[in-house]
Formats: sequence, structure tokens, C-alpha cells
Amino acid sequence: MGKLFLGVLVFLSMYSIAQITCPILPKPVTFVPASDHNPPFRSEKLVFNPLSLPAKLGYLIPEIAKLYGINEVLWKDSTDNKPNPEIAFQPLTGAYPESYAISVTSTGIRISFTSEASCFHALQSLFQMMTFNEPANSYEAPSCFVKDFPTFSWRGLHLDVARHFFTVEEVKKYLDLMSMYKLNVFHWHLTDDQGWRMEIKQYPKLTSIGAWRDSTVENHYATFPRTWKTEHYGGFYTQEQIREVVAYAADRHITIVPEIEMPGHARAALAAYPEYSCSGKQQTVPGIWGVFDDVFCTKDSTLLFLQNILDEVMELFPSQYIHIGGDEVPKTRWKECPKCQSTLKNLNLKDEHELQSYFIGRMDQFLQMHKRKLIGWDEILEGGLTSGAAVMSWRGTEGGIAAAKQGHFVVMSPGSHCYFDHYQSKSTSEPLAIGGYTPLEKVYDFHPIPKELSAQEAPFILGGQANLWTEYIPTFDQLTYMTYPRAIALSQALWGGSKAPYESFEEVLKMHHIPRLMGPNLNTHISLSFMKPTFKFNRIPDGISLGFEFKDTSESVAVSSNDEHNGAWLDHDRTLDIKRTKTNTSQHKLTFFSRCCVDSLTLISHLGLGAKVNYETPLNERYNSGDLTLVDGQFGARPWRGNQWVGFDTNSITIRIDLGKKTKIHGLEIGCLNEPSSWIHLPTEVTVVTDRKKRKYFQISSERTTIECNAKTQNIVLVLTGPSTIPSGLPGEGNTPWIFADEIIIR
Ligand code: ACM
Ligand code: ZN
Repeated sequence: MGKLFLGVLVFLSMYSIAQITCPILPKPVTFVPASDHNPPFRSEKLVFNPLSLPAKLGYLIPEIAKLYGINEVLWKDSTDNKPNPEIAFQPLTGAYPESYAISVTSTGIRISFTSEASCFHALQSLFQMMTFNEPANSYEAPSCFVKDFPTFSWRGLHLDVARHFFTVEEVKKYLDLMSMYKLNVFHWHLTDDQGWRMEIKQYPKLTSIGAWRDSTVENHYATFPRTWKTEHYGGFYTQEQIREVVAYAADRHITIVPEIEMPGHARAALAAYPEYSCSGKQQTVPGIWGVFDDVFCTKDSTLLFLQNILDEVMELFPSQYIHIGGDEVPKTRWKECPKCQSTLKNLNLKDEHELQSYFIGRMDQFLQMHKRKLIGWDEILEGGLTSGAAVMSWRGTEGGIAAAKQGHFVVMSPGSHCYFDHYQSKSTSEPLAIGGYTPLEKVYDFHPIPKELSAQEAPFILGGQANLWTEYIPTFDQLTYMTYPRAIALSQALWGGSKAPYESFEEVLKMHHIPRLMGPNLNTHISLSFMKPTFKFNRIPDGISLGFEFKDTSESVAVSSNDEHNGAWLDHDRTLDIKRTKTNTSQHKLTFFSRCCVDSLTLISHLGLGAKVNYETPLNERYNSGDLTLVDGQFGARPWRGNQWVGFDTNSITIRIDLGKKTKIHGLEIGCLNEPSSWIHLPTEVTVVTDRKKRKYFQISSERTTIECNAKTQNIVLVLTGPSTIPSGLPGEGNTPWIFADEIIIR
């Protein structure tokens, strides 16, 4: 055990015994600490009695112990002349399935379990309670009783190894971490446009060609001009390696659900075997993210090709479910393809959505024939859900709700709570991510069963899952940073247990888990955010106040500003008021110094700073950053980071700004986002209505449009209107574009 880690454990030891809060995460269903008079379990050595222990766990206990920084466990030896209190096992039959109990006293520990899996989970809980007291040279655990069982059977975590590749050792580490938090389904996203990662014996080009790309886009892919890293990049897993990982996971009671993407996200496969596309055109493996028009053709030869692949997949992966993707399938090529069109006609299908449903249905039949079940992203509902399919609901919960109402099994994985590729704080020093904003609190608040489902429908929800797409996650260090501690919050949401208020969860996380994870140098998000302020904008009369919130209240921040507070240190005060200008605008360049980092912010003060804003068109909840966003003095960040903008999933929006009093204005500057690759388009015109009901029309053609508008008014109503559909040739063509706005500056 390393020195640093020992120190951490000593500190933990004192804490846990004094407070006797439950240190286990996910928090168990029942944790009853013994009264203060009961001494804790204390032992120089951790001695396990192998009697009644499931055989496989004998070899695993030392492995589990290592995850908690404990390098030596012993087995009971009756000839030991200085016996230690022992850890003993007791199988239970007839008890609640998958349940376990732990009783800790000063004289020993007893683990009761109903299955090998529940015994494994009990051991994780036990090691989470165990601390090492360095001065006393002994292991300690608080005297207590734990009784526990999971709420959901699908407690999933996904990993995309296509956009960036992770080695077998890294995948095993990911599984280790999952096992510590009782997550039990690993969704292995093995194929995508940018790489095919699984050896298929019948089709060797899938990996000799499809696993490699010659360039990868740098920065956010929606940032122009684009630049490229021209490195031959890729990798794949041999079948032997896959067998090894599957067995490793199984030992840890984790089922691996492999995903082979079809009919979309298929460019890597089609680079290797272009004959299975509609056009047959030879293309390379792309090094850019997004959705591509070239997908698998629906012709029989392609279906056979994919079924041959699934044969090999099923041979390696014993999971009941096989994930076939099914998301984001443009119909462009199918519309032009004689073979797809003749299938459509021969089968009397209404449109390409039904053609997709036919394609998925063929895979469903094939998997059913092999006694497996199909699961796919919620797009597989479009055109009719095939009989045996389960649905993974990612575009919100609607798809999952619809599927459960039709009697199909569902795994909930809505972007709002479960996308770990989203930003987790609003700090400008976060590493580049795809967008979105999913902080730890949000994940903790995830409830897999939506209110819309009846008592009869709710049982179709198998559980939930978080997804880690890796477009912007090139290293394992960043992978753990994006995943932890959010995966721990997820585990609580899915395990159920007796969920504590968020603040208590965070306390336990910081006291007992983050130091332990950081011991072996795991890069987690919270290690930074501990010491980092988050900015809090509030309205004050005639302006805004900028406050600083710390997770840890002993932290402070100093602020230096370019104007009236030049050089001033405001660490005692912690709020900074920015008043509206009386005429025109002014700029405040602020620099913040905290223990870990320096952040900067430029705020523009204007006549509408802190005004009341009413979104008469409802925001899309995923991009609802509040009603101050439009008038907080900051333009939304570029490159687009998902937060700091307000997003509407429609092409005409109405926003009312109430200045609180009649104000003489001369003009407006309107900020909108132009991000066609994400379906976000600029509005083309804006109508401005002031108190006198005077309407004025202006054209919009850039991200910031300055318009002249002279009026004396309290209210300003803006109606922003964009094109009715996304023009052809652009991603999402034919759909309604989205509008994203920030900031509205009033002069
Ligand atoms: C997905 O995020 N395209 C499933
Ligand atoms: Zn075709």
C-alpha cells in the first residue's frame, strides 16, 4: 500500500468511526450502526474463513481487496496461535433473491448471501467499510448491520471504443470500477463509423481496413475552419481478447452486451466491404464525427453479411441481449437505391421508416432463432417495433414510455441524465466535450421509471444506463474523469437502496470514495471541483450579482477586474454586483483566482442586464440554462459547449423581455447559434414588438445581428423565425431546425 493511500485511510478511519455515517455507495437498503458502546471490528489481519464461500470468490477476494488498496488477505488457519476475528460466510436459501446481509461486531464479521452475485456485492460493501488505522496497525470497520438488495436488474454503463480505442487492460479497469459500485451491465459499443473493433473471422477486412483511420478531426467538429491530426489511428480486439474480457466481466458479475451498429453508423464496415452499401462506392474510414448518409443497404446479401457477423458475436458473448444499434439512420441512400426500393414495393411498405423496421425485424427473427433477444436505440420504434425487441431510450424517455406501453422491455438512458460525454460543470477549464450539461446532481436525480407509466407498465423498465461516447475522450485518464464520480451517482439511482439527500451523498463520496479512487491515481472530476468555484448569477435590481459557490466552504476566491475593482481582492465578499448601464454598453473583464485555477470571464453590461425574461415558447429541457441566460452579460460560449445557451427544438420562438421600467432604447444585438451539424440553424428574421405595439422586421444572417430600434419601452417582445425545414444536403434534412439563443444585448 502506498504511503499517500495509507494516510488517506487513516484519516478515513477516524472519520467513519466517529460519525458512523454509512460509507457504502450505493447506499444500502438498510444500514444500522450499533450503539456507541459497541467497539468496532478491529484486526491486524483480514482473515477470511473459506467455509461456505462460493469457490470462484476465493480467488477473487484478493483481487477485490486490491481495488480498495488492501494488498494482503489471509485464509483461516486453525494452527494460527494468535487468531484474528474472522470474516465468515453463510449461504441463505429462501431469502429475498440477490440480497445479502453483513453483520459487523468486534468479534467478527458474517456475510449472508443468496447467490454468488450477492456475495460478491457484499464483499464490495465490506471493503468500502474497511479502513486501515496506521498508528494501531489494524483494519477497522464500524459495528453495524447491513441488509441490501438491488431495485433494478439492468445497471448499465456503456463505452464507445470506436471513436477512440481503449486497450484490454483499460477495459478491465473500467469493469473493476463498475464492479466496485455494483453496476452489472457493460454495453460495449464495438463498431461505429470511425472504427470497427472486433475481429470477425469470416470478414478479416473489417479489422484490417475498418479498424484504422488516417486522420482525426481536432477541436470540436463544429468549429471551423477544421484542422486534422493526420495519424494512422485505430486498434481492435482479437476474439481471444474478447473471450478474456467476457470471462473477466463474468467473474465480476457483469454481463457484457455487445453492440454491432446497423443499419447506420456503418462507415468503417463499408470502407472494408463497400458492396454492402447501396451505392457500392469505395470510401475511407472517416475521421470526423456525426451522422453519415452511407448506411447498410437493406438487400438480402447485406442482411446475410450482418447475420454471419452476429453468429460470431453470439459465439463470444453469452448475453441474453445483443445490441444492434438502430440509431440515427438517414434514409437518403435507401430512397435512391433500386434494391431498397424494390424491397419496399414487394413488401408493400409505406416508407423508408417501415423499411428500417423490416431490417430490424429480420435481425430480431435471426436473434430469436438463436434464443437471443434484440435491443436497440429508440429509433427502432419508428416504422413499428419488431416483436421481440427491447428498447434503449436515449432521446429522452418518450421512446421508452411508448415501448413499455406496448409491452416491450426498456432500458432508460435519457440524454438529460445519462450522457457522460456531456459537460459536468460550467467552468471554462473543463476539457472539450461534445456539449450538453449533466452535472453530478442531475445524474443522482435520475429516476428510470417515468411517471407516465402505470403499475402494469412500469415493470417493463429493466433499469437504466449511462453512455460514454468518446469523440472527445482520447485517453483513459479523461475517460475516468468523465465517468467518475457520475457513475457512482448512477449506481445509486439504479441500485435503489435508501437514497440519501444529495448533500449527504456528496459528503460520503468526498470523505470515503474520492480519496480512495485517487489513491491509485484515478483521475476523477470532483478532485478539481472541490476547490473550484462555480459562478452563480442572480438578478438584483438593475443588474446582476455574481456569486461564487464552493463545494467546500473553506475555499475562497479572489477577483480582479479591469475597471472599478481594478486589482481588488474580493475573497471576503464573494459577490460582485454588475449594474446595468444607463446608456449603451460597457465591458468588464474579470479574472478569478482560486486554489486550483485561474478563470476569466468577460461580462457586457447593457440596458437589459438582469431584466425579466419570459420564454413564451417553451425551451427544450436539455438546453434550459435558466431565464437569466439571455441577459446575464455573456454571449454563449464558442465552440458550443451545450450550456450557456438556451435551446428551442422548433423554428419559431417568442421571447418577452421586461426591463422593469420604461427605458429609452436605440438598438439590440441578438446572438444566435449556427451549428448546422447539430441541426441548429440561424433564424432568418426577427420581429421586434415594443410597448406601443409597433412591429419591426429585420433580417438575420449571422450569429450576432445588430439592429437599430428606437423606442421608449418597458417590454420588448422578440419573435425569431427560421427556415421551416433543414435544407437538403445538410444533416437532419427535412426536419424542423432548432434555434439556440444568447445573449440579447439592449443598447
Ligand atoms: C446515440 O446517442 N446516438 C444513441
Ligand atoms: Zn440499398
